[in-house]
Amino acid sequence: MNRAVIIGTGSCLPERVLTNADLEQIVDTSDEWITTRTGISTRRIAERDERTSALATKAAREALSMANVSPKELDLIFLGTITSDMAMPSCACLVQKELGAVNAAAMDLNAACSGFVYGLDIAEKYIKSDPSMKILVIGAETLSTRTNWKDRNTCVLFGDGAGASVLTGSNNGSGILSSRLYSDGSLWQLLSMESAPRQVCPVLNDNPADADKQHDGSYIKMVGKDVFRYAVRSMEQAVLSQLEKEGVSINDVNLMIPHQANIRILRSLVEKLNIPIEKVFITVSKYGNTSAASIPICIDEANRSGRLTEGDLVLLCVFGGGFTWGVTLIRW
Ligand code: COA
Repeated sequence: MNRAVIIGTGSCLPERVLTNADLEQIVDTSDEWITTRTGISTRRIAERDERTSALATKAAREALSMANVSPKELDLIFLGTITSDMAMPSCACLVQKELGAVNAAAMDLNAACSGFVYGLDIAEKYIKSDPSMKILVIGAETLSTRTNWKDRNTCVLFGDGAGASVLTGSNNGSGILSSRLYSDGSLWQLLSMESAPRQVCPVLNDNPADADKQHDGSYIKMVGKDVFRYAVRSMEQAVLSQLEKEGVSINDVNLMIPHQANIRILRSLVEKLNIPIEKVFITVSKYGNTSAASIPICIDEANRSGRLTEGDLVLLCVFGGGFTWGVTLIRW
């Protein structure tokens, strides 16, 4: 049976490291509070002129090189991000231009932290219908540009980065076994980020200057405790249901790659699923929560560090704003 297989992975982390000690200089916080509540010690921060598309392009080049695929061979580029360089064009189009992927259609996917997993799911459907297709899926963010650096509740959590995978069809038994995406827009207010200030057509308002008085910045806003609860519960239920559907048990999983939101969410999930922590890939202490980039960065690090062996059963699970969440089961 033809399946969508990841044949190349790449990632890109900005050079600049932001430590908890640095954050102590910015807001009223402490290394002790941050590490005990989140497990995060450092995160990477993009330079002023280092845009999301630049990180995404570097990650993509690594993935293409490993896959031995030239940019011209790409049919599609899906890029999960909530921090595109611009509202228009898409970040995916900017990456397409940089790569010279002249035969690829390119589009962004906004599913917050779940963007990469959403992209994998869609890529898999395309490849099922035409196994010769070559598809680049990227997750890339510069959340530091949308962080309220005066809000200690959120500014300690996030980091910048990008990860990418190249997929094509194969019938050698490996590849994506199944995946399932979920959303619940009714809970959007628990985790949100405004877009740029809106303009108001003069016929709608006598005083257009008043129009955006309510707009208090395009920052990430979050009700942390509620997000925590929903994240653990949603990922647990989604994982259990997918394992059951595929007729495998958690013991069959060789490596779980969960979204790197924070260590307490990961520990709660691990406890509920009853999977040994040694089987869980964790980067959150180094990079914080990089949103859509978190899972593809982990996949690349796991791949390059030898944590993934042919035949391994790999479980991805993610949760993010929207709410959106999802699970992917891969035979490596
Ligand atoms: N440093 C010091 N104190 C801080 C702080 C910081 N960086 N951030 C918050 N606090 C304070 C709060 O102001 C509060 O003080 P108060 O009791 O005087 O009001 C206190 O710490 C406890 O805050 P609380 O929100 O109850 O902490 P918490 O145990 O829920 O932990 C989070 C906060 C954000 C770490 C936690 O809710 C969480 O992990 N949520 C999920 C976040 C997430 O992963 N989102 C993305 C999902 S994709």
